Amino acid sequence: YFMGIDIGTSSVKIIVMDEDGNIKADVSKTYLIFYPKPGWAEQNPDDWWERTKSGIREVLSKTDISSDEIKAIGVTGQMHGLVLLDSENVILRPAILWNDQRTEHECEYITDCVGKERLSELTGNKAITGFTAPKILWVRNNEMEIYRKIKHILLPKDFVKYKLTGEFSTDVSDASGTLLFDVKDRKWSKDMLEILDIPESWLPHAYESMEIAGYVTKEAAEETGLKTGTLVVAGGGDQACGAVGTGTVKEGIISVSLGTSGVVFACQDGYSVDEMNRLHTFCHANGKWHVMGVMLSAASCLKWWVENNEPHTFEDLIGEAEKVEAGSDGLIFLPYLMGERTPYSDPYAKGCFMGLNMIHGRGHLTRAIMEGVAFGLMDSMEIIRSLDIPIREVRLSGGGSNSKLWRQIIADVFETDVSVLSSSEGPSYGAAILSAVGYGFYDTVEEGCKRTINISETVSPCDENVNIYNKIYNIYKGMYAKLKDTF
Ligand code: XUL
Repeated sequence: YFMGIDIGTSSVKIIVMDEDGNIKADVSKTYLIFYPKPGWAEQNPDDWWERTKSGIREVLSKTDISSDEIKAIGVTGQMHGLVLLDSENVILRPAILWNDQRTEHECEYITDCVGKERLSELTGNKAITGFTAPKILWVRNNEMEIYRKIKHILLPKDFVKYKLTGEFSTDVSDASGTLLFDVKDRKWSKDMLEILDIPESWLPHAYESMEIAGYVTKEAAEETGLKTGTLVVAGGGDQACGAVGTGTVKEGIISVSLGTSGVVFACQDGYSVDEMNRLHTFCHANGKWHVMGVMLSAASCLKWWVENNEPHTFEDLIGEAEKVEAGSDGLIFLPYLMGERTPYSDPYAKGCFMGLNMIHGRGHLTRAIMEGVAFGLMDSMEIIRSLDIPIREVRLSGGGSNSKLWRQIIADVFETDVSVLSSSEGPSYGAAILSAVGYGFYDTVEEGCKRTINISETVSPCDENVNIYNKIYNIYKGMYAKLKDTF
């Protein structure tokens, strides 16, 4: 058996998988996000570890599988978050998360001082508020006392991996989102570190995702119920692992994830960069590369809406939305509730309902939210199409993919068939597959995916809705530019 641990933004999810990919048990444990100022987002790394410890105990107790039988563990999680430790390995401040928008000034500084083209040459990417390097500079600019004490910089999943193994490590897919990584050559960029004056000794070794990064320590074994010495692979960022978990490991397959963030992800055999850097170019967890577009608020838009309509549930609200025709009778929603990344890179972008009218009820608003998120994903899909990246198949995952209505809306907006998988366990599933590769049970990540992943349903677009959404998407596309100044 293999274990996958996903340090998500709202919860840690832990699964135990057998060698054929069947899920034997899963557990999810929530923790808090703090928003200390508008646009800021932080979490306590200790909360991740506390919930991971109890989650591992719980998942083991849910089956008769003994810790002896867990052969390897893969860890994945939210990308880009900054975890700082001092020389005693004590956490220096709350982690600054991927969707935190405080670093606009630092991004401008990086772009000016490295130069846009050189930045793209060195890292494959542009400076974006969510990435890790600008966060490090923010701490230097605003919290010098803390900056002086830094000894180790870790990404969220790597902190939990450190607690499990006692080793500092990261992997190439997660390191790609730091803006300090040479994505082409899959190693830390000495140039970037030198230009930004960040010591390389603060950064952990970057392994390939399926490589062994350590073994469960005696202390961690006592705390979790795992067996001392269990193998732990380097793992990957949640997007790369999510893609492994949907079998997005060869060109032509596009993975779309509808989680807190919304991601359109294409695997690429070789390294190539979108000249305008609208898409990120990162290392994939299978030794290859990928490009992706990221919306900062996707399923979280619907979560926000449901929370503001309590005691009504998701089911109640989606039930109302199902009764509304495609196009929500002219109501359009912009999903920029936490600013936006792809395609605008604008921390100030705001959400909005446009076109409200007396005929609209709550069902229209709910449906417009789901449609607005699909249009946001379509923005990334259009860039992928414009780069001539082959699109043969779209695979949908993430919490939002459980909604039949949302699946149909996405197929209609994309005008493609959209598949969902029988195990839509997301990144934790990919992490478990990687651990099985690291253990030697599968020879390659591709073989692991072939042996485990099955498509359960394919949704085809409905012609009538395709026409409606084509028209509305054209209006949607123009709205950001028209409203930008009001944000
Ligand atoms: C990817 C990204 C998010 C986080 C959180 O670039 O920022 O998808 O990984 O899920």
